[in-house]
Amino acid sequence: MTVKKILKMGDARLIERSQDVDDINAAKVQTIITDMQDSMQYYGGIGIAAPQIGYFSRIIMFGFESSPRYPEAAPIPLTILINPEIEVLDDTQEEDWEGCLSVPGYRGLVPRHKRICYRGFDPTGRAIEREASDFHARVVQHEVDHVDGVLFPMRIEDMRQFGAEDVLWERLTGEAYTQAHRDQLCTIWGLT
Ligand code: NI
Repeated sequence: MTVKKILKMGDARLIERSQDVDDINAAKVQTIITDMQDSMQYYGGIGIAAPQIGYFSRIIMFGFESSPRYPEAAPIPLTILINPEIEVLDDTQEEDWEGCLSVPGYRGLVPRHKRICYRGFDPTGRAIEREASDFHARVVQHEVDHVDGVLFPMRIEDMRQFGAEDVLWERLTGEAYTQAHRDQLCTIWGLT
């Protein structure tokens, strides 16, 4: 079990494009994937990208099973996607709240395409191609942004809708922010 430290926004390496994976069978690729799995599980994210743990390769991982933490979101199969690409299926965009392990304690309202098709390869080299919409599409766009060197605050159009999660929580709900809320944030905020 190798839990890696998460790089945080401000680190110049997070805003560079990561490199294509040339050889999916390379031992290094398997190491990266194992470390991503261990780190995502440890930090409780529903998605992670290799550059967040210091590997600048185009590998992303996302997914979660049906969970009380995400009662309104349909489960997404745990997916490891190498050299991911996105095709936008229609121009409709929707805004929703996002957070990120690399931007701890902050949330923002981010526009994303509602329907996409994504493609890439699994760790055995098999091609993956799926259509996705809504929350699933949002997660994939967020993670592909990471390997393109884009962090969610760079996508926010109205910076008044960006801030510390405890402050935003109290502003939006009128309730005091407690540890219980912190534990349940995903039900309200979507991504972590
Ligand atoms: Ni992120």
